[in-house]
Amino acid sequence: MRWTLTGATTEYTVALRDEWLELHSWGPVGVHDGPSPLAFHGKVQYLTPGDVAPVEYATDGQRPFLGADLVAGNLRWGFVAADDSDGLRATFADALTGLRGTQCYRFAPGTDVIERWVELHHDGPDALELGAVGSAAFCVPTPAGARLGYLHGQWSQEFTWAEVAVPRGRFEIGSTQGVTGHQFAPYLCVAGGGDAWGVQLAWSGSWQLSADVDAVGTTRVRAGALRDVRLAPGGTLTTPIAAGAYSGDGVDGLARVWHTYERRSARDRHRPVIYNSWEATTFDVTAAGQLALADVAADLGVETFVVDDGWFVGRDDDRGGLGDWTPDPAKFPDGFGAFVDAVKAKGLGFGLWVEPEMVNPASELYARHPDWVYRIAGRPQTSIRNQYLLDLGRADVFEFVTGTLEGLLSRYPIDYLKWDFNRPRTESADPAADARHVANLYRVLDGLRERFPHVTVEGCAAGGARVDLATAARVDVLWPSDNTAPMDRLRIQHGFLAAHAPHLMSSWVTDAPGLFDARPRSLDFRFVLACAGVLGIGADVERWSAASRDRAKEWIARYKDVRDVITGGTVYRIGSPDSARCAVQYTLGARTVVLAWNTGTLDGLGHVPGRDVRLPLRGLAGGARYRARGAEFSGTHLAAVGLPVRWTASHDAEMIVLEEL
Ligand code: GLA
Repeated sequence: MRWTLTGATTEYTVALRDEWLELHSWGPVGVHDGPSPLAFHGKVQYLTPGDVAPVEYATDGQRPFLGADLVAGNLRWGFVAADDSDGLRATFADALTGLRGTQCYRFAPGTDVIERWVELHHDGPDALELGAVGSAAFCVPTPAGARLGYLHGQWSQEFTWAEVAVPRGRFEIGSTQGVTGHQFAPYLCVAGGGDAWGVQLAWSGSWQLSADVDAVGTTRVRAGALRDVRLAPGGTLTTPIAAGAYSGDGVDGLARVWHTYERRSARDRHRPVIYNSWEATTFDVTAAGQLALADVAADLGVETFVVDDGWFVGRDDDRGGLGDWTPDPAKFPDGFGAFVDAVKAKGLGFGLWVEPEMVNPASELYARHPDWVYRIAGRPQTSIRNQYLLDLGRADVFEFVTGTLEGLLSRYPIDYLKWDFNRPRTESADPAADARHVANLYRVLDGLRERFPHVTVEGCAAGGARVDLATAARVDVLWPSDNTAPMDRLRIQHGFLAAHAPHLMSSWVTDAPGLFDARPRSLDFRFVLACAGVLGIGADVERWSAASRDRAKEWIARYKDVRDVITGGTVYRIGSPDSARCAVQYTLGARTVVLAWNTGTLDGLGHVPGRDVRLPLRGLAGGARYRARGAEFSGTHLAAVGLPVRWTASHDAEMIVLEEL
């Protein structure tokens, strides 16, 4: 038996072989028509057939030596039935334990992303201890010389792109932090010969992604989140979704596949141009100070004013307050409602920062409910940024978080919520805590969308520690990193766009020199950079000169004019932040926007002979004509020679808008 699932332009074919499903082929539509590139010949020596076959989801009994997806005490199950009425659901069962598992497949409609997950049902009489319950394995028919691409980092250096060749053996990334983490994005791709296959795990707790390269050169990418699971008789379990994507246009083409996928769950709305006061005032929040900033922001053309951390009682620094979500009357002497009204009277939307899963020991909440945090009796509690993590998996904590948010959103006319998460989980005695926490997080976020559909939600976790497909499907924008230093940010955004769509990429123009970068780039450079996704301003704009404010007004107006192209267009990343050529092209209908940055030296430019930098554009019609800044170009010229850009010492970034004639 064989099944071919078809996406927008790609297909995925699996075949039943005895007791498991095998991958037959994965690539462009039609690729199944021929012998499988994964079929092997020769004798299986000193291994088992399951170790060398491209098994889709292997139990530890079926694939004992080279890595299993379901670790359940030497489990071997057999095929029961398949239902292909909607995607594919293939069910397997084990008579000895009574465990049943359904391997589920479905192409997200209109995309080249295949979603895979597993549903377990325990029909047996005795509780089962499962060492690991992976979501899926993807056997990639690896081209010679293939490389693995991934995104690594730490706080302030998220989404750093890296590639590695693995001739043989295992490459593994993951998080044990109870959150997606800064260290690695749950993203892995195998690229070679112009093709790229990618896997992302839609999960916001701890996770693992690995790639095993076997003796015959197949790369098997495994994705999973659930470890040490106890399944009681009658129990069921559904794994997070592992999403697989293919592109015949390399790693950049793969990025476009992910963008299309994320747009499916995006709400159709303008992401507002925001002002965020964090870098300008940090914890020193006062009504007067915020209103003064809001005045300037409104004048610049900002649409929503977001008050960051520091607005609630006990929050004069990061040692107190979390958990007590009441506006500080000392900071808002006329009342918080009057303050919000005053912001809105300036024609601005109003946004608020919250960190609902956290508590400071110095808070009323902690005094009342010390038992609500993750901890192990008799062990010291680890404090990070002076705070503890609430066990959101508990029903009472879930009620508290929901009630807090509903209270704030119904009491004040809030249009925008920035949801932060500033520490990972440490102590937890229960391995199932992760799944419970994440499930309730999703319930809260889904509930917010349902009950307060007008509120735009920004996801943040000390920068980009909770950026994954599952969070991306539940928020409107994501904050990729606290680092807004221009050259660092360029790298971060380049990496972010490899896995995530531009409508999710929040970016601020901040002051120069800033916190992270003592080498200032021009205001234009910083604006073009922040225009690459969802524009925001995070600078102390009160201190900006009249000239800077005028320039900012121009940029914000220009951004609004092309916002739909940038947030909804097809993205082509040109060059890289580490090369002399670095740009991003966005094309939507007849409009193309190119954002370009001079990543090299500025000194002396224009004083010695030089040539224009050429940015080869992609995806344009060769025979069509395009106009930009008074010049006309053929599509062929723009692709083969490139769009010319000239840098000077005072001109280090560009936004170029091309219209197809
Ligand atoms: C985190 C966020 C920042 C800011 C601070 C406030 O670090 O990433 O943007 O909101 O918290 O404490």
